[in-house]
Amino acid sequence: MSIQPLLEKLQLGDLELKNRIVMAPMTRNRADNPGNIPTEIQATYYSQRASAGLLITEGSQVSKIAVGYINTPGIYSQEQVEGWKKTTEAVHEKGGVIFIQLWHVGRMSHPDFHNGNLPLSASAINPHSKSYTPEGFKETVTPKAMTLEEIKQTVLDFKNAAKNAMDAGFDGVEIHSSNGYLFHQFFNGTSNVRTDQYGGTIENKARILFEVIDAIKEVMPENRIGLRLNPSLNGVFGMTMDEETIPTFDYIINKLNEYDLAYMHLSEPFTDVSSIPYAEKEIAKRYRPIYKGTIIINSAFDQAKGNQVIKDGFADAVAFGKPFISNPDLVERFENHDPLAEYDTATFYTPGEKGYTDYPSYQEQEHV
Ligand SMILES: Cc1cc2nc3c(=O)[nH]c(=O)nc-3n(C[C@H](O)[C@H](O)[C@H](O)COP(=O)(O)O)c2cc1C
Repeated sequence: MSIQPLLEKLQLGDLELKNRIVMAPMTRNRADNPGNIPTEIQATYYSQRASAGLLITEGSQVSKIAVGYINTPGIYSQEQVEGWKKTTEAVHEKGGVIFIQLWHVGRMSHPDFHNGNLPLSASAINPHSKSYTPEGFKETVTPKAMTLEEIKQTVLDFKNAAKNAMDAGFDGVEIHSSNGYLFHQFFNGTSNVRTDQYGGTIENKARILFEVIDAIKEVMPENRIGLRLNPSLNGVFGMTMDEETIPTFDYIINKLNEYDLAYMHLSEPFTDVSSIPYAEKEIAKRYRPIYKGTIIINSAFDQAKGNQVIKDGFADAVAFGKPFISNPDLVERFENHDPLAEYDTATFYTPGEKGYTDYPSYQEQEHV
């Protein structure tokens, strides 16, 4: 019997992954302490899932201004670095590989997080979305367009966060340049109307991302840096595509070939984009022939589709999100063709163990 493509090993830079099943980054809001410090509970959660070929943590803010949701962990303070060590040690003890997702939400935030000051973005354009504040969901506001000084500081914040990630024992980092957050706000013409070197042309709109990669490269090996892109994101997370959106991603992905990154993590469209003429409907198919490095593909995959996309050669690995929430042993379930447990959306973002570390493995479930 031939092995399922998802279960084959994968060489990721100098790391050998034991399979091609990746746990997608997922915000779970359990860092509910004043310093947003990860604790034992994150260590338990991630180590329960360490049989994945690669774990990517939830988005972790690179600075205080980068935050946009309550109780998300950071990676800018020494206490956060110490806290994350518990997670990396627990995962490594089980033979797992773990990258941390470095996050700046940009305008997807609220003044309540910033002592009344405005969140930052490429331009002063309200995403008309919601921010999850200490007082519940609130309407976003019109952000402040970043000054050149603030852009420079942001690049340094990512560099510092990457250095902290290495100190905390992570195997690598994933730059969160996806899903309508800061970098995506620079990429899209509907959120970036700047007239300086960070706006106007495609090259300018993409500039900040490459400055961040170049800065991070100074503090860690290039082949331990991954990044995430969601080219056809439309109508969610405050993002609206225009006719230049896909050409901008074409430019970015072509230029990524100049680097020797760990991987590029792509998402298929999150919503139905069939009526949007300038949206790309099949992301992996478009970008596989263009990108020379490793591609992780995501969004709404199941075991069969995951095996197929690797077999067809459109991706090297598949990231699973929600299935990993309720199936810590997703890999073993795929191996044994066991049924999957249903996830409970009510506990995605609530504090504590419930819906977080209390999902049993199939073995445990069968023996109670
Ligand atoms: C609870 C939850 C939190 C998420 N948080 C993040 C995040 O922090 N960073 C990110 O890039 N994507 C995040 N996502 C998106 C997932 O990584 C993934 O793209 C999405 O769930 C689709 O994959 P799936 O169909 O396998 O669940 C989140 C998704 C969920 C369900």
